[in-house]
Formats: sequence, C-alpha cells, structure tokens
Amino acid sequence: MWPGRTRNIQRPPIAKINALAHELEGKGRRLINLGQAVLGLPPPKRALQRVHQYLENTETHGYCPDPGLPTLREATASFLSSKKNIKDATASRVMLTCGANQAFVNALLAVTMPGDEVIIFAPYYFDHVFAVKLAGCKPVEVELAFSEGRYHIDFTRLKKALSPRTRVVVLVSPGNPTGRVADAEEIKTLCELCRRNDLRADSRIRSQVGMDRRTNPEVNFESALWLISDETYDLLTFPPAAHVSPAAICPTERTIVLGSFSKTFGLAAWRIGYLYGPNPEFIEETIKVQDALVVCAPVPSQMAALGALEEVDTYVPEAVSELIRRKDSLMSALKSCRTLEAIEPHGSTSVLARITTPVFEDAFAYSRSLLQNQGVITVPGSAFGPHGEGHVRLSFGNQPPSVIAQAGERIRSFENSCT
Ligand SMILES: Cc1ncc(COP(=O)(O)O)c(C=O)c1O
Repeated sequence: MWPGRTRNIQRPPIAKINALAHELEGKGRRLINLGQAVLGLPPPKRALQRVHQYLENTETHGYCPDPGLPTLREATASFLSSKKNIKDATASRVMLTCGANQAFVNALLAVTMPGDEVIIFAPYYFDHVFAVKLAGCKPVEVELAFSEGRYHIDFTRLKKALSPRTRVVVLVSPGNPTGRVADAEEIKTLCELCRRNDLRADSRIRSQVGMDRRTNPEVNFESALWLISDETYDLLTFPPAAHVSPAAICPTERTIVLGSFSKTFGLAAWRIGYLYGPNPEFIEETIKVQDALVVCAPVPSQMAALGALEEVDTYVPEAVSELIRRKDSLMSALKSCRTLEAIEPHGSTSVLARITTPVFEDAFAYSRSLLQNQGVITVPGSAFGPHGEGHVRLSFGNQPPSVIAQAGERIRSFENSCT
C-alpha cells in the first residue's frame, strides 16, 4: 500500500473521462467538450495589457511579498466591498494565491489540526475533499436537500453531523456541481449555527491537540467553528438569483472567503485567486503556509488579475449575459432529451442533470457511452461524491450556443441508439 498521505485519495475522477476523450481525439473524432466548468471567453483586454506592461518594463523577475502585490491587495479589497458588499474589506485582510484551490489549502492548514472534522455539503467539489484528507482531517459529508426544484442546506442533517471535532464548515455558493445559490436567510442561519457551535471542541480535545482557550479569552480562534466560503463563481449568477457572501451579512470573525479569477474573468490558466480573512493576524498566520507552498502567487498572474479588476464594470455584465445565453441554450436542448432531467442552475457554469434511464449501470457508464458514441464530454456525477451518483454534470460556460445546440442533437441521437 502506498505509504503517504495520498494513499486514501482517488485520482481526480475527471481524469478518466479526459483520458478517453484524448484517445478519441487522437483517432480524429471531433468532440464537444461540456466537461470543463469554466467561462470559455477571452479574458479582459486590460488583463493582457497589464501582463505586456510587466514583460516590457520589468528587468528582474523576483518574488513579491507573500500576501501579494500591494496594489492588487487594495484592488481586491475594493472589489470585495463594491461588488460583494463586504463593507469592511481592507487590503491587509487579502492574500493572493494560486487560485481558490490554494486559498482553500492555506485556510485549511491554518485553522485545523490533524483529526479535525470538516463538513462538506454533498454533492461536493471533489478537490475540497482531497485537500481535507491531505491535511489529515476527516471530511464529513452532509447531503444537500432537494425540494421544489432546488438544492438547499438541510439544517437538521447538518446539526446531526456536528461533533466535538468539527472545526470547519465549507459553503460553496454558487455551487459546483449543483449550480445552487445560497440565499441570505440560509447564510444567516449557517453563520449563526457556526457561532453557537464555536465551543464544541471541548477541553479534553483542546488539551489533546495542545490548545488552551484561556491563553486568549477574547479571540476564540482556538475553538472557533470556521466557515470557509468558496465564492469561486461569485458574480456568475442568473437573476433573480444573486450571490450573497457570508462576510457581507454576518459578523465575520470566523468567516474565510475564497475567491478566484479563473471563472469570472476567464483567467483559469493564470492560476490566480485570493483568500480574505477575518483580520490581518489571520493573514499573517496563513503566510506560513503560503511561504512553504509558493512564497507568493505568480507576479505576472497578479498583473493579469489587476487588469481584470480594472475592467470589472464592463467585462462582467457582458460575460454574464453571454453565460445566460449559453445556459438557456443548454436548458432548452436538455428539455427534449429523454434520458436526462436537468436541474435549473441559479449560478456557476454548469448544469447537473438526473439520469432517468435504467439502461446504464452508473453515471460513469452513461458519460463514457455518450462520449464513445457521440463524442460529447460530460462529467459523471459520481465524481462529486456518492450523492452525485445517478447524475451527470454538463458545462455550458465553455461553448457558444450553436455548439451547445449541436451537443443537444448528439445527446438525442445517443438516446435513440441506446434506449
Ligand atoms: C467550487 C470551486 N472552487 C474552486 C475551484 C478552483 O478554482 P481556481 O481555479 O481558482 O483554483 C473550482 C474549479 O472548478 C470550483 O468549482
């Protein structure tokens, strides 16, 4: 058996489907990729201009301070306050990272001890589970409830899942793979639940992991139940749904916000995102992780992010309009499919659809057959944990409406050939 921490982690599940897609492409098949959950639009022009300026005017390409370029920390803080209503956002609470994924690892390593439990709503974004396991913590899945056509948190299930070792609850809104958007009421209830359960880590456990709350009676970080809010798809919502950050409406002393430039600004290749902590001390603490992993986020990528933020007011509304056109075309294509029942997304770049035919053994078999027969790439719901089984995720963000319509025709041909 493999001796290290990676032992209990599967290979990223999308990799199997991608390997098959690669093989088919090698044989000359023309595929339609509804697999990748990205916004397939060119990034803001200003982002690229900033990178050009950097390349033209910078002689030595050194590190920048661990938390990021001061100008970008400032610009991110004003983005958080103007676009996400986080009124007290300050640059000293922002850290730039290699995407929201690294921001998650920074936060997790800073606030947990091995053996701590981390609550993840399911179906979940699988990289969160990998990171939790790598940190030596235990992911505790809490299935989202589904009623009246939408997913929401089942607070009864959540309360049952809390234990004295619960250290973090992870909220992803807009959600991947569900496309759900948590509303203000749900978020307030969640924040209140975290606040009330702060002290669940009882003294026995605290002493086991070497903590003593009395050392700092005012800031109870040692016993806090943290809320990590992954807001990777923040502005990619479909009215009347709108993104609400817990940091905008709840007291923020135990809330950590993760953000990304990958989706909203089409900058996934640049691996740039951020962490927004409850105070500057938190950022100082996470610098220990940042320095060990990457020292700082790549400076050219930070320049791209700075340019993107300069264009946010014009770029994002246009990107969202195009995203809605893409979403509508996929929803309308799926309406006439007999084997898939789409769940309307309120945000993000993909749709989760229930497989309604018993012909396939599981979601992987469905996705594999669709790819082999008709060349449409989707992601089996089982990639997002056991609660995603029986579903497939189809991303609309990466393709224009005309290609999405073609994908719909291919799915219908597939249905005719196999059911
Ligand atoms: C919920 C969620 N968080 C984080 C990420 C990764 O974001 P980044 O590219 O900023 O690391 C993704 C990418 O699919 C995601 O869906």
